[in-house]
Amino acid sequence: LKPIKVGVLGLGTVGGGTVNILKRNAAEIARRAGREIIITRASARDLQKPRICDTQDIQLTTDPLDIINDPDIDIIVETIGGAGTVKDMILTAIANGKHIVTANKSLIATHGNEIFAKASEQGVIVAFEAAVAGGIPIIKAIREGLSGNQIQWVAGIINGTGNFILTEMRDKGRDFADVLAEAQALGYAEADPTFDVEGIDAGHKLTILASIAFGIPLQFEKVYTEGITEIARIDVEYAEQLGYRIKHLGIARKTAEGIELRVHPTLIPERRLIANVNGVMNAVLVKGDAVGATLYYGAGAGAEPTGSSVVADVIDVVRALTSDPENRVPHLAFRADALADIPV
Ligand code: HSE
Repeated sequence: LKPIKVGVLGLGTVGGGTVNILKRNAAEIARRAGREIIITRASARDLQKPRICDTQDIQLTTDPLDIINDPDIDIIVETIGGAGTVKDMILTAIANGKHIVTANKSLIATHGNEIFAKASEQGVIVAFEAAVAGGIPIIKAIREGLSGNQIQWVAGIINGTGNFILTEMRDKGRDFADVLAEAQALGYAEADPTFDVEGIDAGHKLTILASIAFGIPLQFEKVYTEGITEIARIDVEYAEQLGYRIKHLGIARKTAEGIELRVHPTLIPERRLIANVNGVMNAVLVKGDAVGATLYYGAGAGAEPTGSSVVADVIDVVRALTSDPENRVPHLAFRADALADIPV
Protein backbone atom coordinates (compact mmCIF):
# COMPACT_ATOMS: atom_id res chain seq x y z
CA LEU A 1 0.00 0.00 0.00
CA LYS A 2 1.16 3.52 -0.82
CA PRO A 3 1.86 5.86 2.13
CA ILE A 4 -1.01 8.14 3.15
CA LYS A 5 -0.15 11.79 2.60
CA VAL A 6 -1.26 14.33 5.16
CA GLY A 7 -1.37 18.12 4.83
CA VAL A 8 -1.47 20.12 8.06
CA LEU A 9 -3.19 23.52 8.09
CA GLY A 10 -1.75 25.65 10.90
CA LEU A 11 1.52 25.00 12.75
CA GLY A 12 0.69 26.52 16.13
CA THR A 13 0.35 24.62 19.41
CA VAL A 14 -1.86 21.76 18.17
CA GLY A 15 -0.43 21.57 14.64
CA GLY A 16 3.11 21.53 16.05
CA GLY A 17 2.24 18.83 18.59
CA THR A 18 0.66 16.71 15.84
CA VAL A 19 3.75 16.96 13.62
CA ASN A 20 6.00 15.96 16.51
CA ILE A 21 3.94 12.87 17.38
CA LEU A 22 3.52 11.70 13.79
CA LYS A 23 7.30 11.94 13.29
CA ARG A 24 8.45 10.54 16.63
CA ASN A 25 6.07 7.57 16.67
CA ALA A 26 6.01 6.94 12.91
CA ALA A 27 6.91 3.24 13.17
CA GLU A 28 4.22 2.33 15.75
CA ILE A 29 1.68 4.49 13.92
CA ALA A 30 2.38 2.74 10.61
CA ARG A 31 1.88 -0.64 12.27
CA ARG A 32 -1.38 0.41 13.88
CA ALA A 33 -2.75 2.10 10.78
CA GLY A 34 -1.66 -0.70 8.44
CA ARG A 35 0.37 1.69 6.27
CA GLU A 36 2.83 4.54 6.46
CA ILE A 37 1.48 8.02 7.18
CA ILE A 38 3.58 11.01 6.18
CA ILE A 39 3.10 14.76 6.46
CA THR A 40 4.17 16.11 3.11
CA ARG A 41 2.82 19.66 3.31
CA ALA A 42 1.90 22.24 5.96
CA SER A 43 0.68 25.82 5.99
CA ALA A 44 1.45 28.61 8.43
CA ARG A 45 0.66 32.32 8.37
CA ASP A 46 4.24 33.32 9.15
CA LEU A 47 6.94 30.96 7.85
CA GLN A 48 9.71 32.71 9.80
CA LYS A 49 8.14 32.20 13.23
CA PRO A 50 9.96 29.81 15.60
CA ARG A 51 8.07 26.51 15.95
CA ILE A 52 7.78 23.69 18.46
CA CYS A 53 8.14 21.13 15.65
CA ASP A 54 10.74 20.17 13.10
CA THR A 55 9.46 20.97 9.59
CA GLN A 56 12.32 19.34 7.70
CA ASP A 57 10.97 17.29 4.75
CA ILE A 58 7.65 19.16 4.91
CA GLN A 59 6.86 21.52 2.05
CA LEU A 60 5.63 24.78 3.62
CA THR A 61 3.27 27.41 2.26
CA THR A 62 1.43 30.44 3.61
CA ASP A 63 -1.69 29.56 1.60
CA PRO A 64 -3.82 26.65 2.91
CA LEU A 65 -5.51 26.40 -0.51
CA ASP A 66 -2.21 25.18 -2.01
CA ILE A 67 -2.64 22.08 0.16
CA ILE A 68 -6.43 21.77 -0.12
CA ASN A 69 -6.17 21.79 -3.93
CA ASP A 70 -3.19 19.42 -4.08
CA PRO A 71 -4.39 16.13 -5.63
CA ASP A 72 -1.60 14.22 -3.81
CA ILE A 73 -2.98 14.97 -0.32
CA ASP A 74 -5.30 12.32 1.17
CA ILE A 75 -6.05 13.78 4.61
CA ILE A 76 -6.26 17.40 5.73
CA VAL A 77 -5.48 18.07 9.40
CA GLU A 78 -7.00 21.43 10.33
CA THR A 79 -5.56 23.17 13.40
CA ILE A 80 -6.05 26.80 12.39
CA GLY A 81 -9.15 27.26 14.57
CA GLY A 82 -12.05 29.67 14.27
CA ALA A 83 -15.21 29.24 12.26
CA GLY A 84 -14.92 32.07 9.67
CA THR A 85 -12.75 31.46 6.62
CA VAL A 86 -11.86 27.97 7.84
CA LYS A 87 -15.41 26.78 7.08
CA ASP A 88 -15.00 27.57 3.37
CA MET A 89 -11.58 25.90 3.36
CA ILE A 90 -13.03 22.72 4.87
CA LEU A 91 -15.97 22.66 2.45
CA THR A 92 -13.56 23.06 -0.48
CA ALA A 93 -11.36 20.27 0.87
CA ILE A 94 -14.42 17.99 1.19
CA ALA A 95 -15.51 18.88 -2.36
CA ASN A 96 -11.98 17.87 -3.43
CA GLY A 97 -12.52 14.45 -1.80
CA LYS A 98 -10.15 14.96 1.14
CA HIS A 99 -10.80 13.37 4.51
CA ILE A 100 -10.69 15.87 7.37
CA VAL A 101 -9.28 15.64 10.88
CA THR A 102 -9.97 18.77 12.88
CA ALA A 103 -9.39 20.09 16.39
CA ASN A 104 -11.80 22.96 15.71
CA LYS A 105 -14.68 22.90 18.18
CA SER A 106 -16.24 26.22 17.16
CA LEU A 107 -16.32 25.06 13.53
CA ILE A 108 -17.93 21.70 14.34
CA ALA A 109 -20.36 23.10 16.93
CA THR A 110 -21.60 25.92 14.70
CA HIS A 111 -21.30 24.49 11.15
CA GLY A 112 -21.02 20.76 11.79
CA ASN A 113 -24.46 19.83 10.44
CA GLU A 114 -23.66 21.36 7.04
CA ILE A 115 -20.10 19.98 7.03
CA PHE A 116 -21.23 16.41 7.85
CA ALA A 117 -23.98 16.55 5.21
CA LYS A 118 -21.42 17.56 2.55
CA ALA A 119 -18.94 14.95 3.76
CA SER A 120 -21.60 12.25 3.55
CA GLU A 121 -22.45 13.30 -0.04
CA GLN A 122 -18.77 13.09 -0.98
CA GLY A 123 -18.10 9.83 0.91
CA VAL A 124 -15.35 11.40 3.03
CA ILE A 125 -14.78 11.26 6.78
CA VAL A 126 -14.68 14.25 9.12
CA ALA A 127 -13.13 13.31 12.48
CA PHE A 128 -12.98 15.64 15.49
CA GLU A 129 -11.79 13.83 18.64
CA ALA A 130 -9.35 16.68 19.39
CA ALA A 131 -12.18 19.21 19.46
CA VAL A 132 -13.37 18.07 22.90
CA ALA A 133 -11.34 17.72 26.11
CA GLY A 134 -7.88 17.78 24.47
CA GLY A 135 -6.14 14.45 25.00
CA ILE A 136 -9.07 12.54 26.56
CA PRO A 137 -10.55 10.21 23.91
CA ILE A 138 -14.05 11.12 25.05
CA ILE A 139 -15.74 11.05 21.64
CA LYS A 140 -14.48 7.51 21.03
CA ALA A 141 -15.37 6.48 24.60
CA ILE A 142 -19.00 7.56 24.19
CA ARG A 143 -19.44 6.59 20.53
CA GLU A 144 -17.67 3.23 20.70
CA GLY A 145 -17.07 2.23 24.32
CA LEU A 146 -20.61 3.08 25.50
CA SER A 147 -22.44 2.34 22.25
CA GLY A 148 -24.66 -0.26 23.89
CA ASN A 149 -26.05 2.23 26.40
CA GLN A 150 -28.76 4.82 26.52
CA ILE A 151 -26.84 7.83 27.76
CA GLN A 152 -28.66 9.64 30.55
CA TRP A 153 -26.34 12.56 31.18
CA VAL A 154 -22.87 13.92 30.52
CA ALA A 155 -21.17 16.44 32.83
CA GLY A 156 -17.63 17.69 32.76
CA ILE A 157 -14.87 20.19 33.19
CA ILE A 158 -14.22 20.82 29.52
CA ASN A 159 -12.24 24.04 29.43
CA GLY A 160 -8.64 23.73 30.59
CA THR A 161 -7.97 27.47 30.75
CA GLY A 162 -10.97 28.11 33.01
CA ASN A 163 -10.05 25.24 35.31
CA PHE A 164 -6.44 26.45 35.47
CA ILE A 165 -7.67 29.91 36.50
CA LEU A 166 -10.02 28.58 39.20
CA THR A 167 -7.31 26.26 40.55
CA GLU A 168 -4.62 28.95 40.76
CA MET A 169 -7.08 31.38 42.40
CA ARG A 170 -7.81 28.78 45.08
CA ASP A 171 -4.34 27.27 45.64
CA LYS A 172 -2.19 30.36 45.31
CA GLY A 173 -4.61 33.24 45.80
CA ARG A 174 -3.67 34.58 42.36
CA ASP A 175 -5.71 37.12 40.41
CA PHE A 176 -7.93 36.11 37.53
CA ALA A 177 -6.23 38.34 34.92
CA ASP A 178 -2.73 37.25 35.92
CA VAL A 179 -3.55 33.52 35.56
CA LEU A 180 -5.36 34.08 32.26
CA ALA A 181 -2.22 35.77 30.88
CA GLU A 182 -0.19 32.71 31.91
CA ALA A 183 -2.71 30.34 30.25
CA GLN A 184 -2.31 32.37 27.06
CA ALA A 185 1.49 32.18 27.25
CA LEU A 186 1.28 28.39 27.74
CA GLY A 187 -0.85 28.04 24.59
CA TYR A 188 -3.93 26.78 26.48
CA ALA A 189 -6.25 29.70 25.79
CA GLU A 190 -8.24 30.35 22.62
CA ALA A 191 -7.07 33.04 20.18
CA ASP A 192 -9.92 35.08 21.71
CA PRO A 193 -9.69 34.14 25.42
CA THR A 194 -13.22 35.45 26.12
CA PHE A 195 -14.30 32.13 24.56
CA ASP A 196 -12.63 30.35 27.50
CA VAL A 197 -13.76 32.59 30.35
CA GLU A 198 -17.31 33.28 29.08
CA GLY A 199 -18.11 29.59 28.65
CA ILE A 200 -18.38 29.74 24.85
CA ASP A 201 -15.60 27.19 24.29
CA ALA A 202 -17.20 24.83 26.84
CA GLY A 203 -20.55 25.41 25.09
CA HIS A 204 -19.03 24.38 21.76
CA LYS A 205 -17.62 21.20 23.29
CA LEU A 206 -20.87 20.40 25.10
CA THR A 207 -22.77 20.77 21.81
CA ILE A 208 -20.49 18.15 20.25
CA LEU A 209 -20.66 15.78 23.24
CA ALA A 210 -24.47 15.98 23.28
CA SER A 211 -24.69 15.20 19.60
CA ILE A 212 -22.59 12.06 20.09
CA ALA A 213 -24.25 11.01 23.34
CA PHE A 214 -27.87 11.56 22.34
CA GLY A 215 -27.76 11.28 18.54
CA ILE A 216 -28.98 14.83 18.01
CA PRO A 217 -27.85 17.47 15.52
CA LEU A 218 -25.39 20.12 16.65
CA GLN A 219 -27.37 22.92 18.29
CA PHE A 220 -24.96 25.36 19.92
CA GLU A 221 -27.62 28.09 19.95
CA LYS A 222 -29.62 26.03 22.48
CA VAL A 223 -26.84 25.97 25.12
CA TYR A 224 -27.34 28.12 28.24
CA THR A 225 -23.92 29.69 28.74
CA GLU A 226 -22.46 31.39 31.79
CA GLY A 227 -18.72 31.94 32.31
CA ILE A 228 -16.38 32.42 35.27
CA THR A 229 -15.64 36.15 34.90
CA GLU A 230 -17.86 37.08 37.87
CA ILE A 231 -16.00 34.76 40.24
CA ALA A 232 -13.71 36.56 42.68
CA ARG A 233 -11.10 35.15 45.07
CA ILE A 234 -13.48 35.72 47.97
CA ASP A 235 -16.08 33.39 46.35
CA VAL A 236 -13.45 30.68 46.00
CA GLU A 237 -12.46 31.13 49.67
CA TYR A 238 -16.05 31.03 50.97
CA ALA A 239 -16.74 27.87 48.95
CA GLU A 240 -13.62 26.31 50.49
CA GLN A 241 -14.74 27.19 54.03
CA LEU A 242 -18.06 25.43 53.38
CA GLY A 243 -16.32 22.30 52.03
CA TYR A 244 -16.97 22.97 48.34
CA ARG A 245 -14.94 23.73 45.21
CA ILE A 246 -16.15 26.01 42.44
CA LYS A 247 -15.94 24.16 39.12
CA HIS A 248 -17.10 25.32 35.72
CA LEU A 249 -19.16 22.49 34.23
CA GLY A 250 -20.83 21.66 30.94
CA ILE A 251 -23.92 19.52 31.51
CA ALA A 252 -26.12 17.70 28.98
CA ARG A 253 -29.07 15.76 30.36
CA LYS A 254 -31.95 13.84 28.86
CA THR A 255 -35.28 15.00 30.33
CA ALA A 256 -38.91 14.25 29.49
CA GLU A 257 -39.02 17.54 27.54
CA GLY A 258 -35.85 17.05 25.52
CA ILE A 259 -32.11 17.50 26.01
CA GLU A 260 -31.00 20.12 28.52
CA LEU A 261 -27.69 21.82 27.67
CA ARG A 262 -25.98 24.18 30.10
CA VAL A 263 -22.58 25.60 30.99
CA HIS A 264 -22.06 27.44 34.29
CA PRO A 265 -20.05 27.53 37.53
CA THR A 266 -21.15 24.98 40.13
CA LEU A 267 -20.39 24.19 43.78
CA ILE A 268 -19.11 20.62 44.18
CA PRO A 269 -18.43 18.91 47.55
CA GLU A 270 -14.64 18.63 47.87
CA ARG A 271 -14.72 14.84 48.47
CA ARG A 272 -15.93 14.24 44.90
CA LEU A 273 -13.33 13.15 42.35
CA ILE A 274 -14.36 15.86 39.91
CA ALA A 275 -13.83 18.54 42.59
CA ASN A 276 -10.15 17.47 42.64
CA VAL A 277 -9.49 17.90 38.94
CA ASN A 278 -6.98 20.74 38.93
CA GLY A 279 -5.08 23.01 36.56
CA VAL A 280 -5.41 22.40 32.83
CA MET A 281 -6.80 18.90 33.41
CA ASN A 282 -10.30 18.07 32.17
CA ALA A 283 -12.68 15.36 33.39
CA VAL A 284 -15.93 14.11 31.90
CA LEU A 285 -18.53 11.99 33.68
CA VAL A 286 -20.89 9.98 31.48
CA LYS A 287 -23.87 8.06 32.85
CA GLY A 288 -25.24 5.20 30.78
CA ASP A 289 -28.25 3.04 31.64
CA ALA A 290 -26.21 -0.17 31.51
CA VAL A 291 -22.73 0.85 32.63
CA GLY A 292 -23.68 3.38 35.31
CA ALA A 293 -21.44 6.40 35.88
CA THR A 294 -18.02 6.46 34.18
CA LEU A 295 -15.27 9.07 34.50
CA TYR A 296 -12.60 10.14 32.00
CA TYR A 297 -9.63 12.31 33.02
CA GLY A 298 -6.67 13.88 31.24
CA ALA A 299 -5.05 17.03 29.88
CA GLY A 300 -7.68 19.29 28.33
CA ALA A 301 -5.32 21.44 26.27
CA GLY A 302 -1.71 21.70 25.15
CA ALA A 303 0.36 20.66 22.15
CA GLU A 304 0.92 16.92 22.50
CA PRO A 305 -2.21 15.98 24.50
CA THR A 306 -4.38 17.55 21.81
CA GLY A 307 -2.02 16.26 19.10
CA SER A 308 -2.52 12.76 20.55
CA SER A 309 -6.23 12.98 19.72
CA VAL A 310 -5.53 14.39 16.24
CA VAL A 311 -3.13 11.55 15.44
CA ALA A 312 -5.60 8.92 16.73
CA ASP A 313 -8.17 10.32 14.31
CA VAL A 314 -5.70 10.24 11.42
CA ILE A 315 -5.06 6.55 12.18
CA ASP A 316 -8.82 5.95 12.44
CA VAL A 317 -9.41 7.53 9.05
CA VAL A 318 -6.64 5.45 7.47
CA ARG A 319 -8.14 2.25 8.92
CA ALA A 320 -11.62 3.23 7.69
CA LEU A 321 -10.26 3.67 4.15
CA THR A 322 -10.18 -0.10 3.83
CA SER A 323 -14.01 -0.18 4.04
CA ASP A 324 -16.52 0.57 1.32
CA PRO A 325 -17.65 4.26 1.57
CA GLU A 326 -21.33 3.26 1.21
CA ASN A 327 -21.16 1.05 4.27
CA ARG A 328 -18.93 3.16 6.50
CA VAL A 329 -20.23 3.75 10.02
CA PRO A 330 -20.76 7.50 10.33
CA HIS A 331 -18.53 9.38 12.74
CA LEU A 332 -21.61 11.02 14.21
CA ALA A 333 -24.27 9.24 16.20
CA PHE A 334 -26.97 10.54 13.85
CA ARG A 335 -27.14 10.19 10.09
CA ALA A 336 -26.37 13.49 8.43
CA ASP A 337 -29.15 12.82 5.88
CA ALA A 338 -31.78 12.35 8.60
CA LEU A 339 -31.43 15.37 10.85
CA ALA A 340 -34.41 15.15 13.19
CA ASP A 341 -34.60 18.28 15.32
CA ILE A 342 -35.05 16.65 18.71
CA PRO A 343 -36.19 19.31 21.18
CA VAL A 344 -33.33 20.70 23.21
N1 HSE B 1 -8.81 26.82 25.09
C1 HSE B 1 -9.15 25.44 25.24
C2 HSE B 1 -9.10 25.07 26.71
C3 HSE B 1 -8.18 24.60 24.44
O1 HSE B 1 -8.52 25.82 27.49
O2 HSE B 1 -9.68 24.06 27.10
C4 HSE B 1 -8.56 23.16 24.34
O3 HSE B 1 -9.77 22.97 23.67
